[in-house]
Amino acid sequence: MNNKTLLENLRCIPDFPQKGVNFRDVTTLFKNPKCLQIMEDELYEMYKDKGVTKIVGIESRGFVMASALAIKLNAGVVLCRKPGKLPGETVQESYSKEYGTDTIEIHKDAITEDDIVLLHDDLLATGGTMKAAYDLVKKFNPKKVYVNFLIELIHEDLNGRSNFEEGTDITSLLQV
Ligand code: PRP
Ligand code: ADE
Repeated sequence: MNNKTLLENLRCIPDFPQKGVNFRDVTTLFKNPKCLQIMEDELYEMYKDKGVTKIVGIESRGFVMASALAIKLNAGVVLCRKPGKLPGETVQESYSKEYGTDTIEIHKDAITEDDIVLLHDDLLATGGTMKAAYDLVKKFNPKKVYVNFLIELIHEDLNGRSNFEEGTDITSLLQV
């Protein structure tokens, strides 16, 4: 899609959080009402006919548009969080990422077999985070799982999409 306004407003910060990482800072899209509206409209057009019942937002930058879209789609929001943050019983998955390793978790009662799930995060880099979230959501055996990112990093060393089995339904608003 690569909306021109979104591309123009996406800030890149070199060497954050460590040398060599070009950090795509989505907060410059979140703070801009026009960009927020464009993102919400584009996401709504992509998913309005899919019957999505739950949107799983990945901590922390995935929470923003997961919530906005869920309200538009009349779906629920599920938080996929770093360990020790969710108060109830959880299911966990560990993963490696562009700069370190981490674990994520979801409440055990957050998703049912009747759900059609949209997994959402701000950015795809190595794909480690989303693959872990995807595997986590699959454990709940929902009817269908869609995957979406605001930004997909296209770089020969990353190839985040290669983590997912062929046929996985993956979209992104910006490819940079
Ligand atoms: C960033 C980003 C994605 C993930 C992408 O999150 O928001 O969740 O990294 O990287 P990957 O595709 O290589 O796994 P981060 O871990 O920085 O957490 P934050 O959103 O809480 O800052
Ligand atoms: N998460 C992992 N890699 C990133 C990058 N290059 N920019 C923003 N968030 C990231």
